[in-house]
Amino acid sequence: MTRPRVIETDQGIQGEFTVNLYDQMQRRLRDKGWIETKDIIKSRITKGLALEIGPGPGYLGLEWLKNTQETTLKGLDISPDMISIAERNAEEYGLSERVEYLHSSGDRMPFEGEKFDAVFTNGSLHEWSDPKNTLNEIWRVLKKGGSVFISDLRRDMFFLIKWFLWINTKPKEIRPGLITSINAAYTPDELQKLVKETKLENCLVSGNPIGLKLTGVK
Ligand SMILES: C[S@@+](CC[C@H](N)C(=O)[O-])C[C@H]1O[C@@H](n2cnc3c(N)ncnc32)[C@H](O)[C@@H]1O
Repeated sequence: MTRPRVIETDQGIQGEFTVNLYDQMQRRLRDKGWIETKDIIKSRITKGLALEIGPGPGYLGLEWLKNTQETTLKGLDISPDMISIAERNAEEYGLSERVEYLHSSGDRMPFEGEKFDAVFTNGSLHEWSDPKNTLNEIWRVLKKGGSVFISDLRRDMFFLIKWFLWINTKPKEIRPGLITSINAAYTPDELQKLVKETKLENCLVSGNPIGLKLTGVK
């Protein structure tokens, strides 16, 4: 039986040491082509202005900008330390003109309704302190016809998959954080139940061996 969720943090990822380790881990995944940008593009999120919630060091959204044309991005993160790293990485990509990072929380977005062509996020759902309101906020700021893409780890992954992730997570100082993230993650069934309590309509929740995904069009 799957153990209950154990909340990891409601403050986001903070502190210079931790965010630098996280940046090294994500940079390595980016270099191996193991981040979810291709899935986002496969979900037909390829145009206009997108919002990324919890961009952390920013690679997912920066790769999205790099692989799409005439797109722009806003990134919303509750961690000022992560925002500093994301801004530095945007500069390194030469994409600062197309992205703006804002310090705010997904459950109270500083945007008018129907502003974005798409909202996407990876790996932050399990940290949201108010997931119901965050999902409702996503729906509010999406244009009609806009797309949503949410991916994260799943808590009920098979233990061999967890072991595989553990040995492939580098630098190894970040490995304890992997386990606390898995323990805080939702199962696909839990996410499905959560979605039913929100304003989201016509969204599909699916699972794979490592994680879960929510996709839909407003
Ligand atoms: C585990 S990191 C994932 C970073 C990145 N998306 C990735 O795929 O590597 C989670 C990020 O979400 C941010 N975060 C957590 N709760 C948030 C919230 N309520 N609103 C906005 N950002 C949040 C954290 O500060 C952190 O940068």
